[in-house]
Amino acid sequence: MTENIIRTVIITKSTDECKDIKTLSFNMKEENTNYIPPKPGQFVMIWVPGVDEIPMSISDCDINGNWSITVKNIGECTNAIYNLKEGDFIGVRGPLGNWFELPEEKSKNIFLIGGGIGMAPLRFLTQELYKHKFSFILIQGAKIKSELMFTTQFQMLDKNSTDIFYCTEDGSYGTEGIVTLAFERILETYSKRLHSNAITYTCGPEKMIYSIYEICEKWNIELHASLERIMRCGCGLCGLCAIDPLGLLVCKDGPVFKTESLKKMEDFGKYKRDFTGRKVKL
Ligand SMILES: Cc1cc2nc3c(=O)[nH]c(=O)nc-3n(C[C@H](O)[C@H](O)[C@H](O)COP(=O)(O)OP(=O)(O)OC[C@H]3O[C@@H](n4cnc5c(N)ncnc54)[C@H](O)[C@@H]3O)c2cc1C
Ligand code: FES
Repeated sequence: MTENIIRTVIITKSTDECKDIKTLSFNMKEENTNYIPPKPGQFVMIWVPGVDEIPMSISDCDINGNWSITVKNIGECTNAIYNLKEGDFIGVRGPLGNWFELPEEKSKNIFLIGGGIGMAPLRFLTQELYKHKFSFILIQGAKIKSELMFTTQFQMLDKNSTDIFYCTEDGSYGTEGIVTLAFERILETYSKRLHSNAITYTCGPEKMIYSIYEICEKWNIELHASLERIMRCGCGLCGLCAIDPLGLLVCKDGPVFKTESLKKMEDFGKYKRDFTGRKVKL
C-alpha cells in the first residue's frame, strides 16, 4: 500500500553511520489515523522546505511507527537533509512504490547484496527476514572500510541463521575486491540444485546490479533489484523515471524489479535520464 500525502514530522534521532552518511528517524504513526506501515524496499519523498523534494529508501521501521532514512550527502538536498538536527521538521510523503517480496518458502537460499548507500533498503529487509525467521547470506561492498554501513546492527543478528561477508576494494576490511567476485565465489561452493532454489535481493550502483543480474542469469537464480532514477513527482505523474522500452516507472512499477522485467529493459545497466528527461550514459 502507498500513501501520497505529505506529513510534517520532527526528526527524533540523528545517527552518524560513516563519512558523509547519516540515519535520521521520525515518527509517522502519531496523530495519523490512516497509518500505513511500510515494507522493505519502499521509499519516501523527503521535502525540505525551500530546497527540494527527493526520494529516500526507508532503512528502518519499528512497531511504534518510528521510520528511518539513511542519507548520503552528495548534492543540494541531500546536504540539507544531512545537516538536519534532532527537533527540526521535514515533510514526508509515503510509503511509495513496491517492495521486496519475501520468499514463499523458508527453504530458499537467500542472498542480499548491497553496495554503498544501496545498503539502506537492504538493512530494513534484513530485519524483516530475521523477524520471519529466514536464514540469509548478506554481502556488503564498499570502497574502503570506513564506508561499510550498519556493521554494529549486523553484528547483533543470530550467527546461526545469517552469514555476513564484507568486501572492500582496497582490502582494508573483509575480502579484497568487489561484491560480484565474492558472490561468484560463494555460488561456486553450492551445488546446481541449490542455485535453482535461490533468490537474490540487491541494491546499489546500477553497474553493480547489472553484473549481479548477469551472474544470476548464468546460475539461473531469481533476482529482485531495486533501481534508482531521478524523480520529480514520485507517484507516476511526470514520467521522468521511465525506463525504455516498456515505459516502466521506477516510482510506481518499482523501485524493485524482478528478473522478468529486468530482461526487457534496454536502459538497464546502460542509460539513465537527467533532470530534463534526456537519456545519458550511466
Ligand atoms: C527510489 C530511490 C531511493 C533512494 N534512496 C536513497 C537513500 O536511501 N539514501 C540516499 O542517500 N539516496 C537515495 N536515493 C538517491 C537520492 O534521491 C539522490 O541522491 C538525491 O535525489 C540527490 O539530490 P541532491 O539535491 O542532493 O543532488 P543534486 O544536487 O540534485 O545532484 C547531485 C548529483 O546527484 C545526481 N542525482 C540527483 N538525483 C538523483 C537520483 N534520484 N538518483 C541518482 N542520482 C541522482 C545528479 O545527477 C548529480 O550528479 C534514492 C533514489 C531513489 C530513486
Ligand atoms: S517520478 Fe514522476 S513518474 Fe516517476
